[in-house]
Amino acid sequence: MTGFLGAAYPWVKAAHIVFVIFWMAGLFMFPRYLVHHQEGLSDPAEPARWIRREGLLRRMILTPSLVVVWVLGLALAVNIGLLDGGAGLGWLHAKLAFVLLLSGYHGWAVGYARKLAASRPTLKPRQLRLLNEVPALAAAVIVVLAVVKPF
Ligand code: HEM
Repeated sequence: MTGFLGAAYPWVKAAHIVFVIFWMAGLFMFPRYLVHHQEGLSDPAEPARWIRREGLLRRMILTPSLVVVWVLGLALAVNIGLLDGGAGLGWLHAKLAFVLLLSGYHGWAVGYARKLAASRPTLKPRQLRLLNEVPALAAAVIVVLAVVKPF
């Protein structure tokens, strides 16, 4: 399948990066919503507002961009030989590992939003704030791997 995208490759890569930006924007906002949601649990009016905002962010940005980033990213990866076992793709394997981690974080955040919706927080505010930093750290590593290709 190597090279099957032909001249469309740079266009697919551009679309991949656009949807990476959307996904990351959502992943920066969503955990921040969780912090506000948890802080507002004692207020009778606040939780319903955060549940609605979280639902909108998931439906409009997070879920669609996650799917498109994965589909286009895998198309690019197959195009450059992921399935052919070629040498020189160590950066891509490492990148995939970090993207899996980021996708797992996405799933965890959605699960935590469900706990908050049921008024059952399990993390201390400080732990939740620290976990807010995961997407930025993962994105930095992933971009270095994709652009510098150190191995
Ligand atoms: C979801 C799974 C993903 C797969 C399978 C994937 C795979 C790929 C592949 C194969 C390329 C082409 C590299 C090249 O042409 O040299 C690429 C480009 C790129 N990807 Fe991803 N990617 C994924 C997710 C992400 C994420 C989450 C980010 C950032 C947070 C990201 C950032 C980039 C960037 C910046 C480029 C452009 C690299 C360049 O051309 O210099 N990707 N991706």
